[in-house]
Amino acid sequence: MKSIAHCPIGIFDSGIGGLTVAHAVAEKLPYEDIVYFGDTAHLPYGDKSTAAIQAYAIKICDVLLKHQCKLILIACNSASAAAYDLVKEYVGKKAHVMNVIDPVVDYLLANYADKKIGLIGTKQTVYSGIYKKKLDERHSAIELHALATPLLAPMIEEGFFNNKISEQVIHEYLSDPVLQNIDVLVLGCTHYPLIKDQIARFYNKKIDMVDATELVARVVDAYLAGHELYNNGVGNKKFFVSDLTRSFQEATRLFFMEEVKLEYYPLWE
Ligand code: DGL
Repeated sequence: MKSIAHCPIGIFDSGIGGLTVAHAVAEKLPYEDIVYFGDTAHLPYGDKSTAAIQAYAIKICDVLLKHQCKLILIACNSASAAAYDLVKEYVGKKAHVMNVIDPVVDYLLANYADKKIGLIGTKQTVYSGIYKKKLDERHSAIELHALATPLLAPMIEEGFFNNKISEQVIHEYLSDPVLQNIDVLVLGCTHYPLIKDQIARFYNKKIDMVDATELVARVVDAYLAGHELYNNGVGNKKFFVSDLTRSFQEATRLFFMEEVKLEYYPLWE
């Protein structure tokens, strides 16, 4: 049996958006093996009920545990909001579970404690109030102004970014009164790094933006270091999806910055 350190890191998302996080992890930890699961059959998670997302997340964890993952990273804000506690309980001691929200909350508390913060994300993420809840638990004085922006993830997934259509959609959302006079904007969805430049242009680079990818990669790195779990392998990667179409395959390069081969892996036979 191989030692835990030699086991892969499991990463999952509703689809291919979480590849932005997987890419940051792979860059930071090139000797780690990664098993990625994109639940493309049930995308988007942002519009699904909490119960449905929880059921999908548990099924995916079974797949990742079957691949002996030492760490399971929920690379999706919507699933982190809906299913993190349940997944943690379900996985128990079999693997360490992380989400993409806690590293951002820690970062906000350390850097923007008295600021007015805007947040954009899916309906699931925003209506769950998860960021506010976590900030309140830490007795923070941060003023959080959250707006659900459900068109953004499907728009990006269809390849609409850095063009006129995305410009208009982004402009419409960011002009919402809820987001006026903010000091910082949290990109609360793992798809949004792809429109980071367009958002920066909207604000004329006058406000800060926080996206989880780099922060999460750092937290994963710190966890492995702290628990002597570094692998010294060659960075093997496997990418599974629960539904496989040509458009998913084509879009992966945009999210992972290199060609990856998606393998079909049905969640329910
Ligand atoms: N990537 C997901 C997130 O971070 C959003 C996409 C979806 O709605 O499935 O919330």
